[in-house]
Amino acid sequence: MSTTLFTPYTLRELTAPNRVWMPPMCQYSAAPAGEAAGVPTDWHFTHLAARAAGGTGLIIAEATAVSPEGRISPYDLGLWNDTQTEAFRRITAFLKSQGTVPVIQLGHAGRKASTERPWIERGRALAPDEEHGWTPVGASPLPFSPEHTTPEELTVDQIADIVRKFADAARRALDAGFQAVEIHGAHGYLVHQFLSPHTNRRTDAYGGSFENRIRFALEVVDAVRAVWPEELPLFFRVSATDWLTENPEDDREGWTSQDTVRLAKELQAHGVDLLDVSTGGLVPDARIEAAPGFQVPFAEAVRNEAGLPVAAVGLITDPAQAQAVLTEGRADAVLLGRELLRNPYWARHAAAALDGEVPSPVQYHRA
Ligand SMILES: Cc1cc2nc3c(=O)[nH]c(=O)nc-3n(C[C@H](O)[C@H](O)[C@H](O)COP(=O)(O)O)c2cc1C
Repeated sequence: MSTTLFTPYTLRELTAPNRVWMPPMCQYSAAPAGEAAGVPTDWHFTHLAARAAGGTGLIIAEATAVSPEGRISPYDLGLWNDTQTEAFRRITAFLKSQGTVPVIQLGHAGRKASTERPWIERGRALAPDEEHGWTPVGASPLPFSPEHTTPEELTVDQIADIVRKFADAARRALDAGFQAVEIHGAHGYLVHQFLSPHTNRRTDAYGGSFENRIRFALEVVDAVRAVWPEELPLFFRVSATDWLTENPEDDREGWTSQDTVRLAKELQAHGVDLLDVSTGGLVPDARIEAAPGFQVPFAEAVRNEAGLPVAAVGLITDPAQAQAVLTEGRADAVLLGRELLRNPYWARHAAAALDGEVPSPVQYHRA
């Protein structure tokens, strides 16, 4: 029998009840400063709980910063203190009560840090001297855009410190009840800034060759894997292409889909169990022609050429379309982002449309 949206999926000793998953989506809804900074609120609980009650098999909580300056905006979630750890516990417990696997994305925004929330002045950069703003750090001293602050280039000691912070945050994630961690290596944030030749101009052991540019990513993976239980899986989100080299009209050199396949093999050797395959985000002006399922081919390439399990994401919205990605062997799970914002019950609606089964909460049986 072929794999459907409703076939359980096991990685290491963890089983997701189905393959309708939610990708990380920042809500920019935590307190920007003080003791509640980075602490999940009722909004985060409701947002994640609703998708769990809707039958989503696995939910990846939004990009959660490993340190205050690693937040994209001051309103991001964080996992660098006990108050945050404690507040996440309520969320993971509820998700598990619904049979949903709780996962958390851990990240560091690097040069894209210190911005407004997207709905305020289109998420403009906050200058270091503005309220709640700070000077970002990066692989190299190159700003994301002319409006962004030029980041401070990280020293080797600072890099080691961030690697440790990823491990600390992973330890807290486990303590908070998460069953998998996803390292954010995509969308132009810090790990991606090291990967791409466009943003990494370093001349030390972290820049130059492919091996040097992936060094930081592998150090983060190793540090997280060392504290993460053997029996639980580790995910990594990548931008499979910067859409620079692969655009014949763009002469900038970027990270390519072939680099991604090469990286995937390394990640697998270092204990990563699944690659979450997105694209873009490194530069503000890459040309991306988004269309239904446009990132699926990148996931498929990793699955076929590197043999690493993958989740596909990006404009997957329709039940038959989502199911075909799985039945055609192009991915192991699908992630629905904006569609799940519109419809938290998508998994159950898809089950009704496709003759599958996603149990509803007992409280709703009369409906
Ligand atoms: C409101 C919003 C917030 C997002 N936040 C994150 C994030 O925290 N981490 C991340 O890797 N991607 C983030 N993304 C990207 C989504 O995870 C997803 O890859 C993207 O929306 C494409 O999938 P879709 O077409 O199904 O929405 C965000 C997207 C949206 C719409």
